[in-house]
Amino acid sequence: MKVTAGWTLNCIDCETVFEQDPPGYFCSNCGGLLEAVKKEYTVSRNELFAKSGEGVWRFRVLLPIVQEVSPVSLLEGGTPLVRTRNIGKETSSGNLYVKNEGQNPTASFKDRGMTVAVTRAVQSGARVLVCASTGNTSASMSAYAARAGKAAAIILPSGKVASGKMVQAVVYGAKIVRTEGTFDDALEILLQSISGLPEFAIMNSVNPYRLEGQKTLAFEVYEQLGFMVPDYLVLPVGNAGNISAIWKGFKELRLCGITDKVPRMVGVQAEGAAPIAKAFWRGSDAITPVQNPQTVASAIRIGNPASSKKALAALRESQGMVLTVSDEQIIAARKLLASREGLFVEPASATPIAALTEIGAKLERDSLIVCVATGNGLKDQESIHVDIDSTPVASDGKKLVELFRELTYGQIRA
Ligand code: F0G
Repeated sequence: MKVTAGWTLNCIDCETVFEQDPPGYFCSNCGGLLEAVKKEYTVSRNELFAKSGEGVWRFRVLLPIVQEVSPVSLLEGGTPLVRTRNIGKETSSGNLYVKNEGQNPTASFKDRGMTVAVTRAVQSGARVLVCASTGNTSASMSAYAARAGKAAAIILPSGKVASGKMVQAVVYGAKIVRTEGTFDDALEILLQSISGLPEFAIMNSVNPYRLEGQKTLAFEVYEQLGFMVPDYLVLPVGNAGNISAIWKGFKELRLCGITDKVPRMVGVQAEGAAPIAKAFWRGSDAITPVQNPQTVASAIRIGNPASSKKALAALRESQGMVLTVSDEQIIAARKLLASREGLFVEPASATPIAALTEIGAKLERDSLIVCVATGNGLKDQESIHVDIDSTPVASDGKKLVELFRELTYGQIRA
């Protein structure tokens, strides 16, 4: 199908320019990843921010979907940017914000991209929406497929997806297939077999329309900070679509002349699944895949990220960096964010806070930092142990008051 007027899909490797969506959304010349490019970035600040309260679709002037097309939407985007108030000491940051993407319709940032990719897939006549996933992509895709009246089929790595995410896919009505391998195996099988079959539309972040939706986070952050660009934008990196998308959003603000500054992009990976971190610090443009990635943060348990090339470019162009954190640091950071700020995120989404507890002190004083909390904590409860039977029993009111006093003694802050 023809790319929306004023836009093309360009190969990031051989630079072929497509006026039609190629089969499977990969470059039909060299197999490279595509990027949606607007022919003219002439949108003014007023035009971009004129509308309020419509989430992702309020930024349609910078989305490659024509006005006449009715979006498949669940009112995604428009998530809160929460200023932290109690963890300044631990993170050595007094000017730290959390963009709470867990408040999206299916409780992760994936909804921003899915609304655009599914709208496009419906427009181009796809019958079945498909993806491989560590959980959130499949939950989100299943919801948007349901909304669009399309079938959803997903491939998941067996035993490696948080149960809350699987429950979502089941309830939304997706058909589930598993592989005994890793997420990387699942994505590879999917891309090799499905690419180019016209009844299937691939909804992983190799689909450039996904990244178009996800880039809107940059526009929102800029607006929510009172039309300011943060010094650092910190986020977890798995398959590497989101860092590429958000960087594209900030670059487009600059291309339009709306801003002259861009943030430094700081990616965070888990120690046991850090191919991009390794390539970055080696100074290489290509990753060496990690064969058997391991981390408690199952969302980013990825050894061969599909968008690593885009991500490495984002990191270099923005003069950013990519850090690694241990599972212990991830769990501690999730607890810190929940117990001190009231923000409950899934393990992957705690990696930026974990990284700041390590390097916050090395950043310039009073840096304006935005961490992206990519997914809601309720999705992934496997790593939290709650034993209700081991809690004390209140036999009557007197005992209750006694227990409450005893248990909270020392916890009361002025
Ligand atoms: N945070 C969460 C909660 C995620 O689910 C993911 C990716 C990421 C961060 C990393 O984003 O892949 O764009 O670098 N989850 C994918 C999935 C892989 O299948 O749900 P990325």
